[in-house]
Amino acid sequence: MTMRVGVVGGGQLARMMIAPAVELGLEIRVLAEQEGMSASLAATQVGDYLDLETVRAFARDVDVLTFDHEHVPQPVLRALVEEGVAVHPGPDALQFAQDKLVMRARLAELGMPQPDWAAVASADELQAFLDDHGGRAVVKTPRGGYDGKGVRVVSAATEAEDWFTALAEDARGGALLAEELVDFTRELAQQVARRPSGQIVAYPVVETVQRDGVCAEVVAPAPRATGRLAAEAERIGLTIAEGLGVTGMLAVELFETADERVLVNELAMRPHNSGHWTQDGAVTGQFEQHLRAVLDLPLGDARPREAWSVMINVLGGPADGSLEDRFAAVMADHPRAKIHTYGKAPRPGRKVGHVTVVGDDLDDVAYEARAAAAHFAD
Ligand SMILES: Nc1ncnc2c1ncn2[C@@H]1O[C@H](COP(=O)(O)OP(=O)(O)O)[C@@H](O)[C@H]1O
Ligand SMILES: [Mg+2]
Repeated sequence: MTMRVGVVGGGQLARMMIAPAVELGLEIRVLAEQEGMSASLAATQVGDYLDLETVRAFARDVDVLTFDHEHVPQPVLRALVEEGVAVHPGPDALQFAQDKLVMRARLAELGMPQPDWAAVASADELQAFLDDHGGRAVVKTPRGGYDGKGVRVVSAATEAEDWFTALAEDARGGALLAEELVDFTRELAQQVARRPSGQIVAYPVVETVQRDGVCAEVVAPAPRATGRLAAEAERIGLTIAEGLGVTGMLAVELFETADERVLVNELAMRPHNSGHWTQDGAVTGQFEQHLRAVLDLPLGDARPREAWSVMINVLGGPADGSLEDRFAAVMADHPRAKIHTYGKAPRPGRKVGHVTVVGDDLDDVAYEARAAAAHFAD
């Protein structure tokens, strides 16, 4: 019988699960937030993932429930698990990707290296943290942030006043996350896939470049990653996946410091932008791997197929005309480039697609990937 995967959320991550699902002969269904979303071609239902009845009805006809994002509330997830629905990643793991304070506390228990941090419930507590950390720090809203929204570098507690006001108005109360401002030399990401029955594989650690809080480029594997650095990143990824009981794809965002330490920034329990290169550059792409993992099927080889892969995000798209208008030009000029678009309307800064080039010379691959992506940008 055909295995059926249900994906909650209709964004581009759900969309990019569709092709490998078709190739593997799986049935994929998407619960989309609205009509016309990125993954609408597999959307069998449109509805609100906050509503238990809606998600329950969607889950009834699938063998496993997984996600395009981390926002399905814990009570909804727990109710489904109690009713016998296979939910991967499950709520016990997912809580650590839903709340950065909960994550920091658990990673401390696991002995993972991370920036100095504190839960700050008031401006006074934030000021005390600032005073202890040279007068500058990063403040984050623990829940719901993405692409740098919910992250602020501050040098005075007053700069987070609006967030403390919002906290005071939130019935759940709680605190903000204060972190030491890490003087990193670069950002890295480590991906791991894990099956419910325990099999686990690690991808090579990659370098990510963010601009304005948004991932702009990924180079895989991370250049100049010494054996020690790569091994440490892998150890962190495997320890977190096992320690938190993650099922499916896990991405661990990391900071590398000048003294070659690696610190954990945050976690994502789903396919991740830092792994888009795997579609064209690895033996098993992360979207296929996620499907295999959540279905508890044997995992695929996570090694690169070529020496280097460079992935460039297309943000916003062309000011005039559509992305599609640029296709022919990119294809003509860059036959090596693999073009991925998400069926989303271009808006400034919005992730609407990406371009990947793979090959054996890093300078050449990076140059071509950037040149191909630039066609879409201007
Ligand atoms: N403690 C920190 N020190 C320095 N830079 C940070 C710190 N935390 C986050 N950043 C920067 O902000 C970006 C977004 O922060 P992150 O916690 O990953 O939020 P998001 O959930 O929006 O991705 C990071 O990729 C990094 O560039
Ligand atoms: Mg991040």
